[in-house]
Amino acid sequence: MPLMEPYRVKVVEPIPILTRAEREAAMVRAAYNPFSLRADEVTIDLLSDSGTGALSAAQQAAGMRGDETYAGARSFFRFRDTVSELTGYPHIMPVHQGRAAERILFGAVLKPGQLSVSNTHFDTTRANVILSGGVAVDLPCPEAADLDNAYPFKGDIDLAALAAKLDGPDDVGIVVMTITNNGGGGQPVSMANLTAVAKLCREHQVPFFLDAARFAENAWLVIQREPGYADHTPQQVARLAFDLADGAVASLKKDAIAHMGGFLALREEGLAKHCEAILIATEGFRTYGGLAGRDLEMLAEGLREVVEPDYLRARAAATAHLAELVKAAGVSVVEPPGIHALYLNAGRLLPHIPPSEFPGHALATELYLAGGIRCAELGSLYLGEEDENGVLVKPAPYELVRLAIPRRVYTQSHLEYVAETIAEVAKNPERVPGYRVVEAPALLRHFNCRVEPI
Ligand code: F0G
Repeated sequence: MPLMEPYRVKVVEPIPILTRAEREAAMVRAAYNPFSLRADEVTIDLLSDSGTGALSAAQQAAGMRGDETYAGARSFFRFRDTVSELTGYPHIMPVHQGRAAERILFGAVLKPGQLSVSNTHFDTTRANVILSGGVAVDLPCPEAADLDNAYPFKGDIDLAALAAKLDGPDDVGIVVMTITNNGGGGQPVSMANLTAVAKLCREHQVPFFLDAARFAENAWLVIQREPGYADHTPQQVARLAFDLADGAVASLKKDAIAHMGGFLALREEGLAKHCEAILIATEGFRTYGGLAGRDLEMLAEGLREVVEPDYLRARAAATAHLAELVKAAGVSVVEPPGIHALYLNAGRLLPHIPPSEFPGHALATELYLAGGIRCAELGSLYLGEEDENGVLVKPAPYELVRLAIPRRVYTQSHLEYVAETIAEVAKNPERVPGYRVVEAPALLRHFNCRVEPI
């Protein structure tokens, strides 16, 4: 069977094709910040794989039977049964997106000053730990520090460091494993690592949770890469992972291939009661949690479609294909490539741009100017620390650009166009300028800052 998309196009949406001059004008208007571009200025949008997937005909049909009853809607029970069957957890709460589940969970579990320990907290997860009075600690495995290392499970947590934290003087309130590890280059977590984390957490009586936004993609990479799982289905692997934990938060904007939604799923009844009260006060009644009935239906159908091996195989192959083309053009990526995104090593491609002039941002901007491709920097603009005069005092550990791949949206020829654009830029990298910040808010500056080329 050739590796091709296991679906065909039924509805199309035109994508804007702009001239270089139009793109330059758009970037000036956006103050060189891709987050400030309008969709009608973007040809290929690789900013996020979140809420950007293409619905199937079956999801649309399911949406039509959405039951919008306030309490006890049929759609809720279909959603709940699907999530229960997938995860095995008895208490399932819908939420409008992943960060709502994070806020409710950390608010219920963490006491002020307690630690949340993770392989890597996603930004909103970290923010919600902090807002709940906790302290977020990331303990990625040592292999993750080497971008070129092809170790298959660079999303693993450093088990020795975790054991030391649990044994040490700090009060650890929760352990959260992010599968796959988005903040850490989209790398998968092995079942061996999850099993060891579960054991440590049980021994220390610390709650163990999954951030399961990309549970199906993690399962697929386990099947491909971890000995002993080649004969498992994605559902089976996902279930084994959920079985190890006390519960999960999930943004369903990723691996439910829907535009909005999430869940908080729990094993323990007392905690579920507490969380349900916060859910009702802040998200919505327990049978809709901030979602419409049609959303719940589309999510349930998406959760069934996302674990189909043909779909996951094609999606993984698409990212791998893009990685091969990009590497053939002389651009390094975080190895080994995962599924939801490809992370370009901008620091290596643009050695003439120091971290204080943001090589990742420079590359992201150039990909837009050269081909209308929108993507985001993961480097010193986002993660660096500055003093009160705006001087970069602590650069990010790496200068990366994330090309996030929406689900079922772009074809192989779109991805080949992306690779050609990258190759074009990589022919004359020294022509790419660095950037300086003109204006930036104190918090989350990468979303809103205005910058200019130097
Ligand atoms: N956890 C992970 C691992 C994520 O990647 C995200 C979102 C969230 C939690 C929060 O979920 O957006 O539904 O509230 N990631 C998006 C991204 C925004 O582009 O990677 P949410």
